[in-house]
Amino acid sequence: MGAAGLAAALVACGSDDDKSSSEEPAGEASEKEEGGGGGGAVLARTADIPVGGGKIFKDENVVVTQPTKGEFKAFSNRCTHKGCPVTSVEGGTINCPCHGSKFDITDGSVKQNPAPKPLPATKITVEGDSIKLA
Ligand code: FES
Repeated sequence: MGAAGLAAALVACGSDDDKSSSEEPAGEASEKEEGGGGGGAVLARTADIPVGGGKIFKDENVVVTQPTKGEFKAFSNRCTHKGCPVTSVEGGTINCPCHGSKFDITDGSVKQNPAPKPLPATKITVEGDSIKLA
């Protein structure tokens, strides 16, 4: 009955508006498939994520937010404009330093251009006080 739990961790980066930007972080990229069964590694503790704010996990390429107490969301940390990694979560938005795009911490929607579309959601699971990549 194994719930074939791998919700394809493929972050299908559907945006290639700009073919020249091949910003893959070459070497370090990560094999997070640890056949550990049952979910991914613990990414954070719920207490690490500020209510009404969030935290960026650069190594995992994910931003975890807590729009309201007890509600956790996660998004790609790659700006949908040109793919810069976002660098701050402030004032209710996830902010890209490159050209000033801002994304809502609740649903990733664009609050400020030039980003053309929302930050894609990333799957997480919350178990007790542990937040895991799903
Ligand atoms: S890459 Fe984020 S605003 Fe341009």
